[in-house]
Amino acid sequence: MCGIIAYIGRRDAKSILIEGLKRLEYRGYDSAGVAILEGAGDLQRARSVGRVQGLEELLGDGFNGSVGVAHTRWATHGGVSEPNAHPHVDDKKLGHGIALVHNGIIENYASIKQWLAKKNHVFESETDTEVLAHLIGELYDGDLEKAVQAALREVTGAYALAVICPKEPDTLVVARKGSPLMVGVGADEYVIASDSSAIVAHTKQAFTLEDYTVAKITRDSIRTSTVDNVEITPEIRELEVDLEEIELGSFEHYMLKEIYEQPEAIKRCFQGRLDLRDGQVRLGGISEFARKLATAKRIVFIGQGTALHAAMIGEYLIEHIAKIPAEVEFASEFRYRNPIVEPGTVVISISQSGETADTLAALTEAKQKGALTVGLVNVVGSSIARETDAGIYLRVGPEIGVASTKAFLGQVAVATMLAAYIGRRRFYSQDDLGSLLNEMDRIPSLISRVLEQSDDIKKATSRYINRENWLFLGRGMNYPVALEGALKLKEISYIHAEGMPAAEMKHGPIALIDDGMPVVFVATKNSQYEKVLSNIEEVRTRGGHVIAVATEGDTDIQSMCEDVFWVPDVAEPLQPLLTVVPLQLMAYHAAVMRGKDVDKPRNLAKSVTVE
Ligand code: G6P
Repeated sequence: MCGIIAYIGRRDAKSILIEGLKRLEYRGYDSAGVAILEGAGDLQRARSVGRVQGLEELLGDGFNGSVGVAHTRWATHGGVSEPNAHPHVDDKKLGHGIALVHNGIIENYASIKQWLAKKNHVFESETDTEVLAHLIGELYDGDLEKAVQAALREVTGAYALAVICPKEPDTLVVARKGSPLMVGVGADEYVIASDSSAIVAHTKQAFTLEDYTVAKITRDSIRTSTVDNVEITPEIRELEVDLEEIELGSFEHYMLKEIYEQPEAIKRCFQGRLDLRDGQVRLGGISEFARKLATAKRIVFIGQGTALHAAMIGEYLIEHIAKIPAEVEFASEFRYRNPIVEPGTVVISISQSGETADTLAALTEAKQKGALTVGLVNVVGSSIARETDAGIYLRVGPEIGVASTKAFLGQVAVATMLAAYIGRRRFYSQDDLGSLLNEMDRIPSLISRVLEQSDDIKKATSRYINRENWLFLGRGMNYPVALEGALKLKEISYIHAEGMPAAEMKHGPIALIDDGMPVVFVATKNSQYEKVLSNIEEVRTRGGHVIAVATEGDTDIQSMCEDVFWVPDVAEPLQPLLTVVPLQLMAYHAAVMRGKDVDKPRNLAKSVTVE
């Protein structure tokens, strides 16, 4: 979703901003723009629809200065057009020429716009952001920091913003409430961005701006205060991200790179947490709440997108291993349903970015109602990680590909450890835990084995590449895996794919099956295996082409299916960590063969920071 990058220092702002915008491209966007203060404060602005590359060409040799703001826009209010792209500037008639980039939504923009219109402000866009730029301009009285503080006291909604003004050519003001914003602290320079990927090439010292905080930044000073001007001291820490982790390296796409990183990522996720010698799971981030978790009456998982699918697997794991009633809900539905939170309710938020607006809002709702909240999050220091009472980081490294892969595996791995951690404190025996841990320890190398089939998967996928409708079916824990397989395929190749419980097919979707329709079954050897074989027969009888993800050595299934992708035999709770991998590869190869831009799928954002 929208990405912000801002710079103040002694170097050429243009190249830093453009490089930063390229790093933020993965968040998803439809237009981009930049504003730079040249020399003593001449404000230059350029915006364009489409790729950052186009914007870069537009800037050419001009735009020379060392203070600037830039933005990738993902349209919410107002269509995709140049006038709607950021930076927005205030009404030039007032002479201040304030330029602003913004991520979030100003909810009360309509009433502010009316008020400003009465004061003769003229608007050139349909955006809420332009209203904020004008409001700051209207309130400006020779002090940009004060004008921003005053404006933010008037607005409701969410924002991360960066503002510059020609009247104060050596100042940059940034602020945050609800949307992510991080300040990188260099030597005589500051790089401010929506996430660390745009900062780490310049400095590893950074801090996350707190909600309702404004920072006034010059080349060699920073002052942070609340919107009410109460000064606060930020806590600068070392970023844990390395530059190589966010570079493409020899891979053609980030998605493929991240699929191949999965064995290493899961190894890192388990490291220091699976104690095979003592037969224990060690999870420092939740140890303070071990008793509360073990005596929980009910566990509710929340998330969106891929994280929701991981949550669905978490539900099975908690019921199966920890034997606590568990349920899963879209965060976006949970928060508006006035959910019942009784004593003993634990709410677990799953999120790669830790910034998904719905998940964050649902978590706040749960917290207000007294639930113990736990976060299973990848991005260290993100809003959800900070809001939750306790948490377990995924530790899978930065995920750049919009289609989530290694983060999904990390979410499932962490949910498995959590279930084992709680289970052992309830009815799960030492023997059971011991053998689960031994199998978990083998998972990274087993993922590598599944990855070896990439060429076979590509070949098989090529046979179905022109089919526009696919079904993904599974039972038990294979059902959320089927949902995830369908999501991967639709989001990057734009093929219509539906995932559902295999038994549900007979209640309607079976009508869709025609000659040659690809139907993907996640059909490993588990408690529901026999039933799935019957479902496969039902599809074949109607002419569907069955592609199965099955357990190595299963000759029965091989004779029934057009194509089979194999996964090693592991205990049922661990199967999702393997079965999803062939589906990720299938989606990847399908998208590449259809000529789609795998890492920048249309309309999608990596991190959805608006509701
Ligand atoms: C977006 C992304 C998905 C992701 C979902 C939840 O829709 O495109 O890949 O699963 O948001 O994101 P989160 O960061 O909370 O896991």
